[in-house]
Amino acid sequence: MSIIITIDGYSSCGKSTLARQLARELNYLYIDSGAMYRAITLYFLRNHVDWAVVAEVHKALDEINLHFEYNSHTGQSDMVLNDENVEALIRDMLVSEHVSEVAAIKEVREFSVAQQQKMGEKKGIVMDGRDIGTTVFPHAELKIFVTADPAVRVERRFKELIERNPNLTIEEVKNNLELRDYTDSNREFSPLRKAADAVELDNTHLTREQQLATALKWAQERIQD
Ligand code: DC
Repeated sequence: MSIIITIDGYSSCGKSTLARQLARELNYLYIDSGAMYRAITLYFLRNHVDWAVVAEVHKALDEINLHFEYNSHTGQSDMVLNDENVEALIRDMLVSEHVSEVAAIKEVREFSVAQQQKMGEKKGIVMDGRDIGTTVFPHAELKIFVTADPAVRVERRFKELIERNPNLTIEEVKNNLELRDYTDSNREFSPLRKAADAVELDNTHLTREQQLATALKWAQERIQD
């Protein structure tokens, strides 16, 4: 039996690493839902969309086409926005600074969630984000809520970004993470919450291999049910 696996948690907890590994092990589709909110944010910034004005948001969403495309070099799926591969651009600090604000907009969430639900129709999917176990797939067979010590998260994120942003300071990364955690958890529509039936995975002291082994065991139990 194929199942749906949801992975939610705060920013830079290692959700996408785990989701990607799990999908590879199980031969499932991996979807990074955050990439969709990032691509929408990139479009809004480039096109000077005033996202405080609902009509502007509607018009912009009508012009946005999102899909994932397999990248044979990395073995991963890249985010494509209106035929342009934006996988690298959406990881920029400018996008990170605005994405939580854009992701809090009701119309943006409805637009994204509808597409995410469609991707899960055939099951056999691992999706990571903030509201996947609560709103996108409330009936998923396995829901994982990933946590990690905040200082460890800042360090991981800094290491990830410093290569492409050599002027970045650890303080900037810390502020951005704290602000995003706050905005994601306190927004009106589908705030970040641990689903009541989610299992928690604290990976502060776990290697990637240990983390994967734990999640894989949970997945195999659900698949056999
Ligand atoms: O996972 P990430 O850091 O790439 O996500 C970027 C932002 O998108 C994050 O600040 C919160 C938002 N997001 C969301 O609101 N719901 C999701 N399912 C995934 C991401």
